[in-house]
Amino acid sequence: MKKNFLNLGKQPIANSFLSSISKNSLKREYFYRLIVCFNTRNFLVSVKDPVDPKIQYTDKYAHRASESQTMQSAFKLVAQNLQKRFKPRKIMEIGSNDGVFLKNFPKKKVIAVEPCKNLANITKKKFKTYSSFWNKKLSKKILKIHSKVDLIFSSNTISHIPNLKETFEAINNVLSDRGVLVIEDPSLSSVIKINSYDQFYDEHVYVFSALSINNIVKDYELKLFDVEKISNHGGSLRYFITKKKSSFKITSRLKKILNDEKKQGLNSFITFKKFAKKVEKSKKKLVALLKKLKKKNFKIISYGATYKSTTVFNYCKINNKFFHYVTDTTKNKQGKFTPGMHIPILSPEKGFNESVDYAYLGAWNFKKEIMNKEKEYLKRGGKFITHVPQVKIIR
Ligand code: TYD
Repeated sequence: MKKNFLNLGKQPIANSFLSSISKNSLKREYFYRLIVCFNTRNFLVSVKDPVDPKIQYTDKYAHRASESQTMQSAFKLVAQNLQKRFKPRKIMEIGSNDGVFLKNFPKKKVIAVEPCKNLANITKKKFKTYSSFWNKKLSKKILKIHSKVDLIFSSNTISHIPNLKETFEAINNVLSDRGVLVIEDPSLSSVIKINSYDQFYDEHVYVFSALSINNIVKDYELKLFDVEKISNHGGSLRYFITKKKSSFKITSRLKKILNDEKKQGLNSFITFKKFAKKVEKSKKKLVALLKKLKKKNFKIISYGATYKSTTVFNYCKINNKFFHYVTDTTKNKQGKFTPGMHIPILSPEKGFNESVDYAYLGAWNFKKEIMNKEKEYLKRGGKFITHVPQVKIIR
């Protein structure tokens, strides 16, 4: 049974940055209700009414995984480790974005799957790329041309696909008998621990736990045999999944993480009710802090036009009365406006200057990278604001 526990209100598509805020384009802006629920049968946490992926993953998709140094290094390292551990002959990535992971493998070994045409066009130059949504039809098409795949990698993508049945059945079609599916997604355990409710937005249809993945894959003749904690996106899990009959043994670290999640209560509805109360408190504290700073006439901006901050801005009703603008290094976000709250986005060169007193960390998941980069700002007395793990000022 699915039980609702969190209502984040009316939300726009997190990646739908607006080119203009003319009456016409505002009229076309799409909104939906962001309600999050818990499935008491398999412990899966999901968005109650997912948005149609065709509205989300278009040829204007803004996220470029290569934008961050942290992610470039993380993908290089995981590629090297997976190569060493599984020695795959054929590798496929579902949601290959701009090829940041696949570029670490020889061209001949690689198949890329990416529905966003603007991104698929980048990897097409080098790799065999299918510019399509991942489904059974595509898996059959791939099997006609290629051999079965020993390593399927998918980072921050499986949690975006509403139809898990179709997804896992299609994976089962192309995965070789000893093949391994490796998926990475934000961890529910971390979300609850650090109160990062902004991990809920239209694209994150699911926020997985080891407990839920362990239950779900069983329905598709697959088994979870290992899991690894990783620091990406404020705490994620990397799941290792294989065919039910393969000889991979369940690791002790998986058993430990499953136990820890049970202790944390990720199999119990009450945990999520408590979390929802904390989210409400966080909203009140953030708005109160911003109001206080505004009264004192400080200039506040937001740092990083993340999808996550779309949830925060729209849930807390933070608009350009609070933030002068948002800065972001991504070229195709600059000059646009944030979804729903319509705050202008500038390049850091234009916007991150002497005039800024406070910068809200929209990209809190890159806090370390940003603190390192912005030492001068902090030195001259500039401050950051974050809501993770609680609302506070960073000096
Ligand atoms: P991301 O981590 O992908 O978060 P989400 O999935 O919530 O969108 O996005 C990080 C954004 O922050 C991306 O648009 C690039 C931007 N950014 C900066 O502007 N400056 C920085 O120093 C870093 C690290 C990121």
